Amino acid sequence: MCNAAGAQTPHPRDGAAVTLFKVLTRQGKKPDMAHANREEVLRALDQIIDPVSGRSVVQQDIIQGLVLRDGNVGFAVEVDPRRGREAEPLRLACERAVAALPGVLSVTAVLTAHQDAGPTVPQRPAQPHRAEPPAPAGIPGVNAIIAVASGKGGVGKSTVAANLAIALGQLGLKVGLMDADIYGPSVPRLFDIREKPKTTGKKIIPIEKYGIKIMSLGFLVREDEAVVWRGPMVQSALTQMLSDSTWAPLDILVIDMPPGTGDAQLTISQRVPLRGAIIVSTPQDLALIDARKGLAMFNKTQVPVLGIIENMSTFVCPHCGTESHIFGHGGARNEARKLAVPFLGEIPLVPAIRETSDLGIPIVVQAPDGKEAQAFRAIANAVAASVAIAARQAPRIVLE
Ligand SMILES: Nc1ncnc2c1ncn2[C@@H]1O[C@H](COP(=O)(O)OP(=O)(O)OP(=O)(O)O)[C@@H](O)[C@H]1O
Ligand SMILES: [Mg+2]
Repeated sequence: MCNAAGAQTPHPRDGAAVTLFKVLTRQGKKPDMAHANREEVLRALDQIIDPVSGRSVVQQDIIQGLVLRDGNVGFAVEVDPRRGREAEPLRLACERAVAALPGVLSVTAVLTAHQDAGPTVPQRPAQPHRAEPPAPAGIPGVNAIIAVASGKGGVGKSTVAANLAIALGQLGLKVGLMDADIYGPSVPRLFDIREKPKTTGKKIIPIEKYGIKIMSLGFLVREDEAVVWRGPMVQSALTQMLSDSTWAPLDILVIDMPPGTGDAQLTISQRVPLRGAIIVSTPQDLALIDARKGLAMFNKTQVPVLGIIENMSTFVCPHCGTESHIFGHGGARNEARKLAVPFLGEIPLVPAIRETSDLGIPIVVQAPDGKEAQAFRAIANAVAASVAIAARQAPRIVLE
């Protein structure tokens, strides 16, 4: 196999991410130099021979989702799932070949499996009574995984996810928080975490703060690197962050979802064994329309919706204490009733929530006895109860 990489220097954060994010940054390259183009990248990759087929990775058409932006290159190397990690040297060779090109500032290559790969065991005869596809494999030692989502951006998912996770911890549960927002991770800022997670063997150890375990792509990858990631790379990063981190033992793992209903959301709702999803919405109609889209996506992927939270519900003036309803009030509660989904509670619009978020000390930590923290703990209680109910009501039984 050709290895065009020569003496490349791994990115400084490589150690933390093990197989997850092998981002190579060439030392000595100037950011303003002319960037490599698609043809040059493909020519470099065409030199890499897959030892299994004897053909180049380009001839074999296993380079997928190639994206280039400002000298940052990303792509997936799609292999038969049976090869698994044995294909790692191939991935590395591809990455190094591209990193060696002039005008390449960073390279991210991930291994993904063929979508249409055949089964590794002989197929059993058709089972006419199969009621539901089997649930994706869980994370050993993690009792329940829940997603905090919304169709619309900026409604306060990350703020709610962070405070809710800590509040669940304050109830005595063992809690983890995973930031699944690849393009705009908020968790490092919300918790004021600047260090890298440590590793043990091939596992990443989530960072512990305020009594919970925390992981975010923002700990590992710069935003300008992640910006070139597309479909398969996002999927691979998310599923590996879930399964290659030492989460256990946990009662609840809260996932802070990115906005919208795109690749990352679908990956999580299809591939992660979610106990349920929580939809965050502001009270106004526009946000509610998007909340409905989020709800529809979870329904389609058969993830139970544990309920809706109304954020920025009532504005309480910090000077005179007068309440006003900037985005309206009660919209999410009414919507929940219409959609026959539980209403989990409301969080007021309070400057202190934003200020404490910006400081990296969420309000449930900064003012644990205040009204806002009480509102979060009431929601945490409702969530803990609904997680337990979802466990009893929705066993994914496959009838043989
Ligand atoms: N209840 C609240 N009161 C005051 N400010 C809030 C409240 N909830 C969220 N905010 C502020 O609103 C902004 C957006 O919140 P946040 O980042 O949590 O939203 P998001 O839905 O996660 O956004 P994105 O879609 O970009 O991930 C932040 O500045 C946050 O501090
Ligand atoms: Mg967010």
